[in-house]
Formats: sequence, structure tokens, C-alpha cells
Amino acid sequence: VKRIVSGVQPTGSIHLGNYLGAIKNWILLQNTYETLFFIVDLHAITLPYDAHQLSKATRNTAAIYLACGVDVSKASVFVQSHVRAHVELMWLLSSATPIGWLNRMIQFKEKSRKAGDENVGVALLTYPVLMASDILLYQSDFVPVGEDQKQHLELTRELAERVNYLYGGRKWKKMGGRGGAIFKVPEPLIPPAGARVMSLTDGLSKMSKSAPSDQSRINLLDPKDVIANKIKRCKTDSFPGLEFDNPDRPECNNLLSIYQLITGSTKEEVAQECQDMNWGTFKPLLMDALIDQLHPIQVRYEEIMSDSAYLDRVLIEGATKASNIADATLNNVYQAMGFLKR
Ligand code: TYM
Repeated sequence: VKRIVSGVQPTGSIHLGNYLGAIKNWILLQNTYETLFFIVDLHAITLPYDAHQLSKATRNTAAIYLACGVDVSKASVFVQSHVRAHVELMWLLSSATPIGWLNRMIQFKEKSRKAGDENVGVALLTYPVLMASDILLYQSDFVPVGEDQKQHLELTRELAERVNYLYGGRKWKKMGGRGGAIFKVPEPLIPPAGARVMSLTDGLSKMSKSAPSDQSRINLLDPKDVIANKIKRCKTDSFPGLEFDNPDRPECNNLLSIYQLITGSTKEEVAQECQDMNWGTFKPLLMDALIDQLHPIQVRYEEIMSDSAYLDRVLIEGATKASNIADATLNNVYQAMGFLKR
């Protein structure tokens, strides 16, 4: 079976973009593939963070995975820092990563500009190398992510090929092969719709955990009245009717897309259903659809959080399974790179 890995950072609260761009798709994939879903706590320390909140946020994120439908009888769920191989492989990979590849990363440029020099640690630059190690350790075939992770996936692929080329062994090189060898070269799985959910207050910027205004996003754990209020107040326009893909109406496109995904409809169905509506008729529909979708997740979340022994068990089991796979890859890499055997 093909293998799939993915993860979310335990920073801020998980929002509709994380759900529609990533987690919702995991749920379908776990039925067909071998899946490993991690909470990337090591990535969460690459910008200034609150050490008192990290472990709590990590647990909450794990509980959200389960509440959204990740089924631990099929998927392994674990905490990135619990599998030491991630950090270890990262060091090995970083020796093969040209610094220019990292300087080019859009997320690095954006995040470092926002954070200001004082707050930019080296780890923010090497962040994509850790992400590559998250993926390559498991010889993953596919990585389901939102659009904003595409460049990181490209770097992961290039790095895999480079390490395969540098250390992949004479036999493999003679065969002129690409892929195979030390690492499998993974492919991103970016959904056709939902890969870029936009902010509720600005249809041109993406919905994000770090946006200062909570009004800009729907968090998965927002209570009904908060969801209703955010939709009531979200940015719209004054064109007649509602439509997809009009470049002058980014908010309209975003809200229709959210509605489409949440109701499980096709784009054509929504375009037709909504073409003659105004915001006053559409917004209550969107609110109800969101509340209907998120309410059961919130109920399950509370159940999971009320049984902390269960969650602990899930995370221990997940880390054990993951470590078995990860250690095998790591040992291979040490050997290929010429280290003395332990
Ligand atoms: P993170 O925590 O920023 O986001 C988690 C997932 O949610 C997707 N996403 C979105 N999708 C659609 N619209 C949006 N507005 C939106 N915002 C976020 C992201 O694309 C992502 O899939 N570096 C990663 C975490 C990571 C990872 C990995 C992912 C670390 N190692 C290995 C996959 C494999 C990140 O910061 O995601």
C-alpha cells in the first residue's frame, strides 16, 4: 500500500482553512492508504511562542484530528517530537541542503518580515528541512496539504533526489535512476477546491492562525453564536447576484467555495443555486451549513478531551509505530552517508 503523511502545527486554533485544505481530505485517504498524521510541535517553536501553552496546544490538536474523523484503527497519530528520528534526520539532510534553496522560500520571507530580525531564529530558515525529514523518514508516496505548502513539498522532492544522487550508491547511479534509492520522492496532494481558503475580512489574503483578528477566520471550535456573528459581519460586496471566479469579487468566490465544500456540492450546483441570491439570503444558509458541519466535531472533541488516558494511549501507540518505520530509514541514511555503525 502507498503511504501518506501530513501534519498541522499546534499554534493558535485550528481553522476552517486547515480543515478544508488538509484534515478533511485525510479522512478519505485513511481508508485507502497507510496513513500517519502528526502534530508538528517542533515546527511550532520556529517563531516566538508560549512554552506554557505548547503541550496543551499539542494535545488539543491531536484531539481535533480525532474529532474530525481520523480513525486510529486505520491511521497512526503521534507527536513529532516523540519520534526522535525527525530531528536527527534533519541534521543529516541539512548538510545536503544548499542555503540558497532556503533563502528562496516564500514562507520564510513572509514570516521573517513580519516577525522582525530580533525574532527570527535559525530554525525559521531551516524549517523546510525539518518538514522534508517529516516526510522522507516514512518513504511517503503522497502528502495531502493546502496550496501554501506547495513550495515546501517541491524542496522536499529536490532534496530527496539530491540525497539519492549524492549517497544513493554506485549501483543505483549506474542505472541512471531517479527516485528509489535512499528516499522515495513524494508527491503533494493539493485538493482542487479548498486548497486556499481566504480570510473572512479580506478575500485576497489566506485564512491564517496568526492573523491578529479572530474575525478573519472560523475556528473549528467556535461556538454557534460566534460562527453566526462572524458570517454576519464578514466582508461582502454590492454586486447583484452571487458568482464564482469574478476577480473583482474575491470575497464572493471564497464564501461560495466554502459553502460548496461544506455542503459537499459541486461548483455548478452552488453556482446555480446561488446566482440570483443576495447576501441576506445566502448568509443564513452558509451559517447553518457551517454550524451543522462543525457541531458534531465539537461534541466529539469534548468527549475525547474528557478521557485523557485514551488520548495518551493513542499518542504512545502512534509514536511506537512511527518510530519503527522512521528508525529503519534513519539507519539506512547513516549507513549511506558513511557513518561508523553503532
Ligand atoms: P500549517 O499548520 O500552517 O497548516 C496545516 C495544513 O493546513 C493547510 N492550510 C490551509 N489550507 C487551505 N486554506 C488555508 N487558508 C490554509 N491554511 C493552512 C496547510 O497547507 C497545511 O496542509 N509546515 C506545515 C506543517 C508540516 C507538514 C509536515 C505538513 C510540517 N511537517 C509534513 C505535511 C507534511 C504547516 O505549517 O502547516
